[in-house]
Amino acid sequence: MTNMNAPLANRGNDVNTIEERVNTLLTQMTLAEKIGQMSQLNAGDGYAPDYLADGLRAGRIGAVLNIVDVAAVNELQRIAMEESRLGIPLLVGRDVIHGFKAVAPIPLGQAATWNPNLVREAAHVAAIEAAASGINWTFAPMIDISRDPRWGRIAESLGEDVFLASRLAVAMVEGFQGEDLSATGSIAACAKHFAGYGAAESGRDYATTDIPESELRNVYLRPFNAAVDAGVATLMTSFSDLNGVPATGNEFLLRQVLREEWCFDGFVVSDWDSIRQLQIHGLTENDRESAYEAATAGVDMEMAGDAYSGHLAELVEAGRISIGSIDTAVANILRAKFRLGLFENAFTKPEELPAVANGWALETAKQAATQSVVMLRNEHNVLPLAAAELNSIAVIGPLADAPYQQLGTWVFDGDVELSVTPLQALRSLVGDAADVRYVRAMENSRSRASEAFDEAVAAARDSDVTILFLGEESILSGEAHSRADINLPGDQAELVRRIRETGKPVVAVIQAGRPLTLTNIVDQVDALLFAWHPGAMGGPAIADLLFGIESPSGKLPVSFPRMVGQIPIYYNQKNTGKPPSWDNIAHIDDIDTRAPQTSLGMSAFHLDAGFTPLFAFGHGLSYTQFEYRHIRMSANELKPGDEVTVSVDVCNTGGVAAEEVVQLYVRDPVASVTRPVKELKGFQRVHVEPGETVTVDFRLHTDDLSFYGRDGQLVTEPGEFHVWAGGSSETQLRTEFRLESR
Ligand code: GLC
Repeated sequence: MTNMNAPLANRGNDVNTIEERVNTLLTQMTLAEKIGQMSQLNAGDGYAPDYLADGLRAGRIGAVLNIVDVAAVNELQRIAMEESRLGIPLLVGRDVIHGFKAVAPIPLGQAATWNPNLVREAAHVAAIEAAASGINWTFAPMIDISRDPRWGRIAESLGEDVFLASRLAVAMVEGFQGEDLSATGSIAACAKHFAGYGAAESGRDYATTDIPESELRNVYLRPFNAAVDAGVATLMTSFSDLNGVPATGNEFLLRQVLREEWCFDGFVVSDWDSIRQLQIHGLTENDRESAYEAATAGVDMEMAGDAYSGHLAELVEAGRISIGSIDTAVANILRAKFRLGLFENAFTKPEELPAVANGWALETAKQAATQSVVMLRNEHNVLPLAAAELNSIAVIGPLADAPYQQLGTWVFDGDVELSVTPLQALRSLVGDAADVRYVRAMENSRSRASEAFDEAVAAARDSDVTILFLGEESILSGEAHSRADINLPGDQAELVRRIRETGKPVVAVIQAGRPLTLTNIVDQVDALLFAWHPGAMGGPAIADLLFGIESPSGKLPVSFPRMVGQIPIYYNQKNTGKPPSWDNIAHIDDIDTRAPQTSLGMSAFHLDAGFTPLFAFGHGLSYTQFEYRHIRMSANELKPGDEVTVSVDVCNTGGVAAEEVVQLYVRDPVASVTRPVKELKGFQRVHVEPGETVTVDFRLHTDDLSFYGRDGQLVTEPGEFHVWAGGSSETQLRTEFRLESR
């Protein structure tokens, strides 16, 4: 863990100057102007209605969102700075989640790259493009840990693992905010949704979360801690109820953890109208009490609601909210504005920034798409396809030529004209050598079987290979779009079955915003690529992978259940007192109906699903094979404070050069609280030539073994530890070490 008091990464100006300027400005502000800074209004539908101008002149608005017309934004900044009493510039927020114009893969797909440098670059591209429209604040990264693919917002997340999500959260913050937050093209980031949102009951969005403090600290809070240590400028509270106290009114989160323990000095914004929703939750009886609870808990700014503007003044005048706490909230907001350099330069000059959707932006989007695709299956090496050996290719399915769908969720500003679909890319790549026949077969992913299936089957029968493009449209994931059944929608499985019957090779490429339960099709296809929603350049990325111009290198950032009833299922689970193993459990298809009660395996499994996912966290195949050998450590007896090197040899025993994500896992088998059976503690993406062996070294510090114990304090305990290295969480290549008490 990095130093919790690490200086914020982005101080565009000298700290003292900023604090002096904040305090000087505060002394000049009226209570109404202070409350104005705590209010963010929706500019709505990309225009700036007249009512904003009046509010700006009166100093009643400190921030806006959802305005992307640079001339309108500059006019709002001009009014705020030239026609209001104190001339305080505006924060201009937008959901720039995975790209602005040149859309990159959804964050869950970017997580599958396991490539922080590439993820950072994608965020940097997004920041540059958004800044050209006058945006200076994005509501990203979304870093809610999620172990439930029914939840639609898993699409925006960085997956199920703390270590991976933390590393990529930092990369995104650095990409958005740059080295200098006040530089042209840098925008403030916003770590969201604080906290525990991904634990929504049954994966229903906005549903209740009940998370014990040890789980909250060891899992859900850690990515936010990493983002704060990396200097994230803002946090956003979650809509959700956390252990009976909604996050937007949760003083434990917003003051004890975020301010007292982590020393965060940025500001906290509510989610959309989530302050007034405290009444709907049943925490308050009206907007005034909601304003009281949120301000007391530590929400500095209200997004798209009027609880603060309507009631904070009366709460201060009644002595229920101190002017000191208002000043603290306003100082947090002003500090961010000074760090952004807005007082010196609030106006956007697009000519100072690169053109949007330029070659660099599109190449970054393509690289991210290429490295995000995970090859789940490749029987008899049916992939890569060889154009020279193919006369005809059947391209079938509702997502082969869906330029908008491949962009994924949260693409308010994505330019669909930039999308290159898989069909388009295949035609340009191999259209001269082979006859590419396209049959949509289904109007959309939820369509039922129809006579169009017959046309698809005929095309498959007459072709050398069929490539099926299946999955979900982008609208089936994202906010408020959870699914209780995560099979392929509609009759897609029936289409796969019909195509399989032709006996021709079948490759499936699936686009979706979540893991799907693929059990009913996985054995009916020869090869299976999971492409998430790959963004504007998903087509060329997929075509290059299908024809071996690139080798698949993505790894799963989230477990794929066999069936929805297994959820939650994740790799870093606890061992339980009765861990299952394949040799001691029965399966529903071989149970003697008179079997004795205790004869089926008394352990933690499902009779009809077993206990393992269909595809494990960290899984991903390549066009070559990697052998892992000789895991070793620079020392096997450690004392607290030691740092050791864990090394492993990775040999490319196949015939093509490729990249592999080498993963390091650790287990603490005995501790004062039960610990996961494995925890990711390192990963490195390496390039290995055929026949080459590379040695990969990981640095492991005893602090990396720490966890929050029974007393809620971070602790590292002595004892034996197990260490694995491999290409997936299922690796068995293991060594051990011992940590002495001192
Ligand atoms: C939404 C989302 C949040 C987003 C905000 C502004 O409801 O929960 O992630 O940033 O409102 O669009």
